[in-house]
Amino acid sequence: MANFFVDLYCEFPTLVRKPMWRIWHKLLLLFDKDRTVNFMNYGYHSLNGEKPLDLKKEDETNRYCIQLYDHVVNRVSLENKKVVEVGSGRGGGAHYISRYYKPESYTGIDISTGVIKFCNNLYNVPGLSFKHGKAEKIPVENKSCDAVVNVESARCYSDIELFFREVKRILKNDGHFLFADMIEPTEVHNIRTKLINCGFRILKETEITKNVAKGLELDSLRRESLIKKKIPVGLKQAFGAFAAVKGTTRFDSFSNGKYQYWSFVLAH
Ligand SMILES: C[S@@+](CC[C@H](N)C(=O)[O-])C[C@H]1O[C@@H](n2cnc3c(N)ncnc32)[C@H](O)[C@@H]1O
Repeated sequence: MANFFVDLYCEFPTLVRKPMWRIWHKLLLLFDKDRTVNFMNYGYHSLNGEKPLDLKKEDETNRYCIQLYDHVVNRVSLENKKVVEVGSGRGGGAHYISRYYKPESYTGIDISTGVIKFCNNLYNVPGLSFKHGKAEKIPVENKSCDAVVNVESARCYSDIELFFREVKRILKNDGHFLFADMIEPTEVHNIRTKLINCGFRILKETEITKNVAKGLELDSLRRESLIKKKIPVGLKQAFGAFAAVKGTTRFDSFSNGKYQYWSFVLAH
């Protein structure tokens, strides 16, 4: 049942889908008492023998989730830039990028007011803040930011093209859109076409399915132990399916070809 829900929720009508994130965030806020769950993505691990990302000791626990963010943003300079992230979730990516890439400002935006409050209370880095808002109507002025980051969030937006147009609207003329998500293989061409139709120029696109599958594999024990420690018995299966621990449909979906994972660097 849990596997079925996690696998199909993007196909549910908007009315069912819309409140889902808010409920999910509320449950996490309730169960994660010591506020140690800061990421909600599937992670990434380099497969070409590159030197591992140099991380501070306190960031080691979240290495794979951080590596996904790093892969997405490391191809453009963010230093002293104005950056907006849409779908910032529990803020771990925003916190990482603000400290390591030193943007002038970094604004995380999410549909859940609960998670925005959580992030504004938890993180304390100059220039980093969080704001409630929707991807389909981003609460940011026209042509005001240098980069927009979006990690594992866009797949289930009610109108992904409207989101792409919003990103185009808020970016400066020389700005970049740094985007990554899981995509069904038959949809990849559609997404690329929509990005181009919205006026973006693709500077780089990379299929990272194997990197994400490896990241998930290496992170699975940590995910399982968090669920064991924090989640009540009746909900463990649902959280396991969502976190894509070993043995779930989502975990398998990156190795059996059901989903691919792509990253894009786009110019305004
Ligand atoms: C899978 S989580 C990823 C969070 C974060 N990017 C990370 O990697 O840890 C997806 C996030 O997108 C947010 N989200 C979903 N639909 C949204 C929308 N229409 N507008 C803004 N945020 C949305 C959810 O609340 C959730 O925090």
